[in-house]
Amino acid sequence: LSLQETLTRPETGEVEGVTFTKIICSTWDQVWNFRARPDDLLIATYAKAGTTWTQEIVDMIQHNGDIQKCRRASTYKRHPFLEWSVPKSSIQTYSGLELAEAMPSPRTLKTHLPVQLVPPSFWEQNCKIIYVARNAKDNLVSYYHFHRMSKIMPDPGTWEEFVEKFMAGKVLWGSWYDHVKGWWKAKDKHRILYLFYEDMKENPKREIQKILKFLETDVEKEVLNEILHHTAFEIMKENPMANYTKDFEGIMDHSISPFMRKGLVGDWKNYFTVAQNEKFDEDYKKKMADTALVFRTEL
Ligand code: A3P
Repeated sequence: LSLQETLTRPETGEVEGVTFTKIICSTWDQVWNFRARPDDLLIATYAKAGTTWTQEIVDMIQHNGDIQKCRRASTYKRHPFLEWSVPKSSIQTYSGLELAEAMPSPRTLKTHLPVQLVPPSFWEQNCKIIYVARNAKDNLVSYYHFHRMSKIMPDPGTWEEFVEKFMAGKVLWGSWYDHVKGWWKAKDKHRILYLFYEDMKENPKREIQKILKFLETDVEKEVLNEILHHTAFEIMKENPMANYTKDFEGIMDHSISPFMRKGLVGDWKNYFTVAQNEKFDEDYKKKMADTALVFRTEL
């Protein structure tokens, strides 16, 4: 048997009504009791909203545009993925918690947790958090393809089935709607920079400058241009330390759909039928009626 054949898709469970892998559910107490340090930076997103992109931008800022330093390890090793763990027996072991605990400060961490499930120590320590949100339709399309190509995710079923699951919030890390709304609310009370994928696509320089300001730092003009270049989709797609081609053989199948898939705003138009789109919009209006949060679905 090849590794691919032996690896089965994960079972799921729930923590406070939010879907996670069984493994995350079983380690939940440790996640909840995680001890954040005051100089931790947390990059929080709903899955497929532009996490990896933001991580690369932040890493480049922290290393003053030194590409070699940013190639020291793959994204998920440079920035511990807080709640993620894969048991020791599996072909690719990982414990975000262990990685984080062993890492010297200042640390940059990644999470997909909805705001109500963020370990309380992050609030107690008043940590800075960068949240990135992406419009629901593109986020959904990206998530669907990621489920297809990555065996760390449950089987997505058909496109139609996956749309239903996404709308019902019965996917890993729970409801997209609750996620973006919850973090939007939290930004008024905590040190949270709330960014949009669409803004980053429209004007990456402007959004990188927002990050610089939030991090209370600055870089030379040439370094900023270097960051822009190095974090552009076409460049990141070819970067083995950012494109998830390293260490994931048998888990991610880039021939089904590459991790660095399209990197566009508006690709949803290639997937939603007219009827699906109408249904989605109607449901969206209801779910988003209680927020001022507005997304762009095209540029
Ligand atoms: P698509 O599937 O729409 O292409 P995450 O890192 O949160 O898992 O998000 C992955 C999504 O971000 C994918 O979207 C991926 O292609 C896109 N992405 C990654 N790097 C990017 C970049 N530098 N610019 C634009 N999009 C990027």
